[in-house]
Amino acid sequence: MTRVRVHNFTISLDGYGAGPLQTREDPLGVGGEALHDWFIPTRAFQRINGKAGGTTGVDDDIAARFGEGVGAWIMGRNMFGPIRGPWPDDAWRGWWGKNPPYHGPVFVLTHHARPPIQMEGGTVFHFVTGGPREALGRATEAAEGKDVQIGGGVATIRQYLEAGLIDELHVAIAPRLLGSGEHLLYGLDLPALSYECTTHVPTAAATHVVLTRRQ
Ligand SMILES: NC(=O)c1ccc[n+]([C@@H]2O[C@H](COP(=O)([O-])OP(=O)(O)OC[C@H]3O[C@@H](n4cnc5c(N)ncnc54)[C@H](OP(=O)(O)O)[C@@H]3O)[C@@H](O)[C@H]2O)c1
Repeated sequence: MTRVRVHNFTISLDGYGAGPLQTREDPLGVGGEALHDWFIPTRAFQRINGKAGGTTGVDDDIAARFGEGVGAWIMGRNMFGPIRGPWPDDAWRGWWGKNPPYHGPVFVLTHHARPPIQMEGGTVFHFVTGGPREALGRATEAAEGKDVQIGGGVATIRQYLEAGLIDELHVAIAPRLLGSGEHLLYGLDLPALSYECTTHVPTAAATHVVLTRRQ
């Protein structure tokens, strides 16, 4: 059965999943890049980006579950890129180059319709204007029994949490303070939404937490 998962989503100690003022130069907002200091050195990250080498150990073991058993992806328009408002043209095709690390259908939540984009390596970006439930319905169908992974960003994960539609959420808490930006959990009553902490693994680089929704 399809499970809806978030994996390798990183927040700062003060709860931000991205810094403020996202631009092409700062995809994760000002200061946000440092959130991924635990992830970027790992062998899993290097492999995801088509490179060899990288660190092994607990961070790598956890990071390697990215995309495992996943048949389709969902992300918000700001994770897809820094452009806001109506698309000026079709030039922007994501941050990830010609061959993004998804290798399957990716459903991008947006208010601004756009034809699908076929990338190398099997990634196809579909732009969904009907909201989170429509995106999840299409992703679940496309996943053909595999899991759906929600990549981010913050606003997207928050909507799926509030709707009780995420089965498992892995958050890496980085030892960084951002002070402002996009806050992941502010104002969400997770126990009332049936979430409990089922895994808690500290490493030198991050504290890994898994929240699971009781059925
Ligand atoms: N820390 C991590 O591990 C991690 C992982 C992934 C991403 N990020 C970062 O998170 C940041 C992006 O997060 P974010 O919270 O700003 O944005 P987001 O969730 O990526 O995207 C939000 C945008 O998606 C569209 N959208 C969202 N809900 C919608 C709905 N119900 N109906 C239609 N469209 C909808 C809207 O765009 P429009 O109205 O403009 O169409 C909205 O402004 C980026 O900096 C990214 O790099 C961090």
